[in-house]
Amino acid sequence: MLRVDNSEAIPVEFSPELVAKFGDIVSRYPEGKQKSALLPILHLVQAEFGWVSAPAMDKVADYLHIQDIEVYEVATFYSMYFMRPQGKYMLEVCRTGPCCLVGAEKIMDHIEQKLGVKEGDVTPDGLFSWRGVECLAACGFGPVLQIGPEYTFYEKLTNESVDQLISDLKAKASN
Ligand code: FES
Repeated sequence: MLRVDNSEAIPVEFSPELVAKFGDIVSRYPEGKQKSALLPILHLVQAEFGWVSAPAMDKVADYLHIQDIEVYEVATFYSMYFMRPQGKYMLEVCRTGPCCLVGAEKIMDHIEQKLGVKEGDVTPDGLFSWRGVECLAACGFGPVLQIGPEYTFYEKLTNESVDQLISDLKAKASN
């Protein structure tokens, strides 16, 4: 479920480097069309802070000289923007029909049990979150999950392959 989390709604500061990246994106669009830069700017914000908080959205609105609601309505529409803090690794499992027919729901149950957190929550070590998402366009290879920000795909999942993936990610994080 997508929801805006204001529990960590502390003011955010955009670094000069981040603002320079914003400017580079805005410069690709005609004068007066700066709103067109909104999606890539939100990606940059998420890459910087790990999620898109309400204060960050307000600040983006200020930067682009648009209304706050114009940022909110875009950020909450697209599932790739996280409206609450997430683990370092977000496991997004396809929960659409074809994947469910080959066990996606059981894979999500297994992930929940393995990680010990409900959908959308963060493991105590801050490493993992998981959630169900709609079709990932790999319907012939289900069950399937992706992990951002590179959106790496893992296909034909089994409980054992999920265990291995989680173990590999833990090892990667500790290096
Ligand atoms: Fe799962 Fe399309 S239904 S990838």
